[in-house]
Amino acid sequence: MSTERSAPVWVWLAGELDPVRAGEFFHTPGRGHFHYDDAYLAAKHPPLAPDMPVRPHSLPIHDGSGIFPIFQDAGPDAWGVHLLQRRLERPLDDFEALTLCPVDGVGNLALGEMTPERRRVLAMDQFLAIIEEIKAQGQAITDIQSQVLDAVENGTSLGGTKPKLTLVIEGVQYLAKFPARGDDPWLPHVESAMLKLARQCGVDACEGTLWHLPDGRNTALLTRRFDRVSVAGVPGGAGRIGFVSAHAILRLDKQARTRAQAEAGMRAFSTCGFNADSLRRSYVALADAMARWCGGQANHREARRELWRRIVFNALIRNTDDHARNHGLLCVNMAGKHWALSPAFDLVAPPLARELPTLSLAYLHVPRGRAIPVPRLVWAASRKDLLEAAERHYGYEAGEAREHLDDAAATVRTGWRRFLAAEGVPEAEIDRYRGTFSPLPGM
Ligand SMILES: Nc1ncnc2c1ncn2[C@@H]1O[C@H](COP(=O)(O)OP(=O)(O)O)[C@@H](O)[C@H]1O
Ligand SMILES: [Mg+2]
Repeated sequence: MSTERSAPVWVWLAGELDPVRAGEFFHTPGRGHFHYDDAYLAAKHPPLAPDMPVRPHSLPIHDGSGIFPIFQDAGPDAWGVHLLQRRLERPLDDFEALTLCPVDGVGNLALGEMTPERRRVLAMDQFLAIIEEIKAQGQAITDIQSQVLDAVENGTSLGGTKPKLTLVIEGVQYLAKFPARGDDPWLPHVESAMLKLARQCGVDACEGTLWHLPDGRNTALLTRRFDRVSVAGVPGGAGRIGFVSAHAILRLDKQARTRAQAEAGMRAFSTCGFNADSLRRSYVALADAMARWCGGQANHREARRELWRRIVFNALIRNTDDHARNHGLLCVNMAGKHWALSPAFDLVAPPLARELPTLSLAYLHVPRGRAIPVPRLVWAASRKDLLEAAERHYGYEAGEAREHLDDAAATVRTGWRRFLAAEGVPEAEIDRYRGTFSPLPGM
């Protein structure tokens, strides 16, 4: 029989530099429950998430890994777990990783003992010192991953698979993201260009810049952390804002359903010819589910409209890495239970892309109806389906959707070469992106 383990859960409330204890999380594999502390209840602090109301009894979670998905968001993913296991010299399960990792994860929650080591964040000077040391030994940095990042003691709990860390530059926290071993060295340049191009296309994308490391050889993408804010008069930008991924909102941690559940789901959505789980992990489901998080119809509509602009942009740059961990909501007002889409991140245009763009989440669902004998769930991007989706799911009128799509397409068509060149991508390399930025079907 496996024994129950428990860990304190900490939350950074708005405007605070230090976290308060919200309660205790208890876990056995596949099952967990969370109990708010009496002091948290008495202080009338806000809930950690809309689906975790502040109550004097336990909140259970009986499925998936038994860990609340918003807790998982705060912990490391493949890259962070790799660093943590290397440092502790043993394999770790999800609960251990979450309670022992550095507490620089996305959002405003952390689990486990709050030690100074776990709270340590690397300053740019310290990072540069590591590089200097390697240079002093007469070595070139040919493998940033093992030569530099593995030397950063504390690692990071930011998600994703690419090598990355949190860096403090002049009191502001940044995410520094490096190409992985074997990756295209132009990846940071292209991602930086896409963040800028996205903003030109009306998408609220995060602020990114290309960073040339002082070894003269490597580059990384620096994005200002959107979940960190400065707190009056204190440098280090250590105030925090809540974050939840679309993966967590949609409960995609849950295993594929049983056959009976899948069939019930098919009937409910009147779908056939595709798995009902595809609808569960779709932009359509996310647009609906955001209603519980956004605090009111007007906010929900705004979030859905922004989501559609991101779908359009991902289609235009053939970003097929637009999975549910690459979308999320930020807590705009914790007490008011108002969440909104975080700035867009991880927008990557692939070189040599296929002509027909297919997104990784379906964005249009047309259920069976009197005039529609065969229901449709659509991943492949075309002008017609993007426009139909805009009206059906994302709060756009037909005319304004057409106008936005045509404007965004023209911005990409006329701007992509310039945006890549501005980041220093050489001509021959830019040519490899011709297919990537070719017009969508029907445009
Ligand atoms: N600017 C940012 N501020 C705060 N958190 C971010 C920012 N950009 C990304 N993140 C978080 O870090 C995670 C990893 O970043 P991402 O760019 O997706 O890396 P990867 O390419 O490895 O997937 C994201 O899933 C998101 O939770
Ligand atoms: Mg990612």
